Amino acid sequence: MKSRHFLTLMDLSSEELGRLMTRAMELKSMHRRGENHMPLTGKTMVMIFEKSSTRTRVSFEAGMVQLGGVSLFLSPRDTHLDRGEPVEDTARVLSRMVDVIVIRANSHALVERFAAHSQVPVINALTDMNHPCQLLADMQTYLEKRGEIRGRKTAWIGDGNNVCHSWISAARQFGFHLDIATPRGYEPKAEWITASRDQVTLHHDPKEAARGADIVVTDTWASMGQENEKTKRIKAFAGFMVDSALMKLANRDAVFMHCLPAYRGVEVSAEVIDGPQSIVWDEAENRLHAQKALLEFLLGAPEKK
Ligand code: CP
Ligand code: NVA
Repeated sequence: MKSRHFLTLMDLSSEELGRLMTRAMELKSMHRRGENHMPLTGKTMVMIFEKSSTRTRVSFEAGMVQLGGVSLFLSPRDTHLDRGEPVEDTARVLSRMVDVIVIRANSHALVERFAAHSQVPVINALTDMNHPCQLLADMQTYLEKRGEIRGRKTAWIGDGNNVCHSWISAARQFGFHLDIATPRGYEPKAEWITASRDQVTLHHDPKEAARGADIVVTDTWASMGQENEKTKRIKAFAGFMVDSALMKLANRDAVFMHCLPAYRGVEVSAEVIDGPQSIVWDEAENRLHAQKALLEFLLGAPEKK
C-alpha cells in the first residue's frame, strides 16, 4: 500500500481532519489520566531539521516516546545531505530503515522530492511555504476553547508567510472565513489564496481585518532565514502590532493565537499575549497531542479509547 504523506493540510480530507481533532482530544485526556498507550512500540521516526525548533522538535520526540516508539534527530550536518548526496537517494535509504520521516526544510520543494521517493509517510514540520502541523494544534485549541470553528471569522494580522498559508488551507478545510491584513508587498502567495478563494479576503488595514473577528492571529514579521530583513520589515509593518486597541475591534469573546516564538512589542504587545484572551500556551501544548494523533493515523496504529 502506498504511504500517505502530510505535506499540506490538503493531504487529508476535511472528514479525516475532523476525526484527527477528536482523536487528539482523546489522546490528551488519556495522557492527563496517566494512561500508557503505546501502539507504536518498535516503530522508528527520523527527524531531519534544517532550521531551529523548540516546539516542533520536542512535541514530535516526546509524542513518539509516549506512543512507544523511538526517534532519531538529524541535522543536515549529521547526514550526507549537506555533502551533496541527493535527497532522492536519502529518501530511498532512510525509508527502508524507519517507519516515518519528519522534515523541517528551507525549501518546500525538497520535502516534496523527499516524499516522492519515500516508502514511508513523510511529515512536513515547516517549510518556507507552510506549516500544516501547527494548524492541527491551532484547530484543536479553538475547538477546545470555543467549539466548532465552522462559520467563524479569523483575522490574520502581519506577514503573509508560511503559517499564514496553512491558515488559508485551514479556512477551506474547516469552513471558516479568513480576513488577512498585511502591508503591501507582504501578501500571501496567490496560488495559496486561489485554492481557498471563497474563504479569504485580503486587506492592508489591520483594523478592517480585526473587526468582528472570533480569532486574531499573528506570527513573527521576520521568519527563519529572513533575519537580515528584520530592520526593513519592522519599518514596513509599522501599525500592524496586535495590541489591545486592535483586540477591542474583535468580538468580545475573541481569542488571540500565535504559533510562537513571539516577539513582544513587535508583532504583539505583551498585554495581549500575556492577557486573558491569549490561548497561546494551550496552542503550544496541543502540538504534542495533535501530532500524536497524526502519527497514529499515518502509521495505521489501532486506536484505543
Ligand atoms: N511553532 C513552532 O513550530 O515552533 P518551533 O519553531 O519552536 O518548532
Ligand atoms: N513563520 C515562522 C514560524 C516559526 C514557527 C518561521 O518560519 O520562522
